[in-house]
Amino acid sequence: MLSNTAKNDRMLLHREFRLLLESTQISVSHGFVQHGNTSCLVHSLAVAWYSLRLARFLHLSVSETELLRGALLHDYFLYDWHLPHGAKFHGFRHPFIALRNAQQCCNLSPKEENIIQRHMFPLVPLPPLCREAILVCIIDKACGLFETFRGEYRRFRWVSAVIAEV
Ligand SMILES: [Fe+2]
Ligand SMILES: [Fe+2]
Repeated sequence: MLSNTAKNDRMLLHREFRLLLESTQISVSHGFVQHGNTSCLVHSLAVAWYSLRLARFLHLSVSETELLRGALLHDYFLYDWHLPHGAKFHGFRHPFIALRNAQQCCNLSPKEENIIQRHMFPLVPLPPLCREAILVCIIDKACGLFETFRGEYRRFRWVSAVIAEV
């Protein structure tokens, strides 16, 4: 049973995702594998959702909109990094590619830029500078590990309804 906060958060995520569907090419990332059987788009939705859940669990005051938008765009690099023509040194370069792509279609706040650019810390030695960016940096690693070793978000099936809009 979902709490009212979780229901509200789900609506918030849905709203921000829908707005980005209209203003960006984020739907394209559903065609690219991130880890295992998970597309880059589902990965980004999972990172957004669980970053906000972690903020709630820790009773942290965060800017929900910036957290969700930054998380949804944190891997907005728009290529398949598994293919030979994907960017060289993907792990190091993709936060900057994602940021540049996102800047071309969105007016990003400094927090949103920080979330995108700093999410690969410590591999990329630029630390996240706000709590929203720290949350996304942590959850991104947890989601990446989960996707690599378990594959499917069984408790995250509601996202298929969201993805159906893509
Ligand atoms: Fe990433
Ligand atoms: Fe990621």
